[in-house]
Amino acid sequence: MKIVFATGNPGKLQEAAAILGEGFELVTPAEVGITEEIPETGTTLRANSQQKADYIYKKTGLDCFADDSGLEVDILGGAPGVETARYAGPERDANANMDKLLSEMARREKEAAMARTNGISTANATRSARFRTSVTLIVGGVHHFFDGVMEGHIATEKHGKGGFGYDPIFVPEGYTQTNAELGDKVKNAISHRSKALRAMAEYLREQH
Ligand code: IMP
Repeated sequence: MKIVFATGNPGKLQEAAAILGEGFELVTPAEVGITEEIPETGTTLRANSQQKADYIYKKTGLDCFADDSGLEVDILGGAPGVETARYAGPERDANANMDKLLSEMARREKEAAMARTNGISTANATRSARFRTSVTLIVGGVHHFFDGVMEGHIATEKHGKGGFGYDPIFVPEGYTQTNAELGDKVKNAISHRSKALRAMAEYLREQH
């Protein structure tokens, strides 16, 4: 089965190809004539993944899928969420994004500690967080949605050189090291994106 994956990221393409396995040929947007940037203006991960898949489907009529991921930090009320890639600005700079996240969390923790010393009860400050991926699949013009979550917490400083994005500050549940220290093999087995893609792959294998 031939299927277009709405990504220009070779790492993501490789990961999805490995998860889908034999019987599926992944095609990039460029290979079907889409060279412009695909719009991503939704206010939720689901809306964004659907917008990207719809864009490909409307232009080509081909079976396709798209993903969108974000980080939700509890003490920040679920931020950065849909803004994860551009948290510190449009440059999508991973280091600047992590620095902003760490300083926002420190600020919130300080505010909560102050409130407690003033006798105002606040929930215990926690550093819990999760990565979430939404995948939209369009097969024969019909939409299907798959989600994947990786629970964990935000470390107080960066550790490790592997991975990308927020990996140096994200410690997955059940581990003591960050994603960047654990490396791709461990991470790909437990990640939000791989869970969502595996759920999609299972569905496709059952149907095709
Ligand atoms: P995207 O939708 O896959 O492009 O993800 C949006 C943003 O979330 C990325 O630019 C990264 O900053 C962050 N992100 C997504 N997945 C991961 C991950 O597995 N590790 C670290 N950061 C991630």
